[in-house]
Amino acid sequence: MVYLSAVLLLLYSTCVFSDEGSLLTPCKVDDTACLSKTTQQFLEKTSHGIPEYDIKAIDPLIINCLEIVISDDLKTVLHYKNLNITGLKNQQFSDMKMDTNAKSVVLQTRADLNIVGDVTVELGKMQKSFSGTYTLKGTALGTSSYGYSFRTDDKGVEHYEVGPETISCQTVNEPEVTLGPELRQAIDQDEILKEKKENFKRKDLHKSVFCKMVEKAYVTVVHNIRAAAKVMPKSAFLEGV
Ligand SMILES: *[C@@H]1O[C@H](CO)[C@@H](O)[C@H](O)[C@H]1NC(C)=O
Repeated sequence: MVYLSAVLLLLYSTCVFSDEGSLLTPCKVDDTACLSKTTQQFLEKTSHGIPEYDIKAIDPLIINCLEIVISDDLKTVLHYKNLNITGLKNQQFSDMKMDTNAKSVVLQTRADLNIVGDVTVELGKMQKSFSGTYTLKGTALGTSSYGYSFRTDDKGVEHYEVGPETISCQTVNEPEVTLGPELRQAIDQDEILKEKKENFKRKDLHKSVFCKMVEKAYVTVVHNIRAAAKVMPKSAFLEGV
């Protein structure tokens, strides 16, 4: 039994550290070129998910359900379903700040995303709703902040432990939103909505909806960093920390 465990452990280590090629290249905290490369390498190796390590697929990333309440006079609630987000595997490293005293990291990446799904526009005031397909194309900067600590596993290997994250998002450009023809017609033909239609075309609304989607997607991105930290030694991530 001990022998079998040792063999399994060996196989397992071989997979993590050489067979697939390493998931990461260790970088100095201020070496932007290296950090860009290791980000790309990590995303290439993990974007389809690695179930053994609890690394989840992020491209495409599916969000089953997202509800956004708009504070307007129609009491609008946007219900998004089956959002299919593509493009997260091509995230570009943008910035990283690490505070080794406070043990915290701020990591920013930039992503060009395509999102397709269904939306129901619920107008609470009128007890009415309209449904149809929805697409969005946009670029965002996603920023994840988290604390970390160190943990030594039962083989004496030191790992990062990634704490709970806070995620924020900034849009880089004007997201392009397209509604399915039925939904567009229904909104166009509705007498009351005709006057209010401009509300739904507001740029800041599209940006805030896009950012809510990005923030939700980045929860899985950070989950994968946390999962990788559990299997990869601390030394695989950064040099000289
Ligand atoms: C998500 O979109 C991609 C690209 O269009 C497609 O290949 C994939 O099948 C979609 N996934 C789901 C679950 O709809």
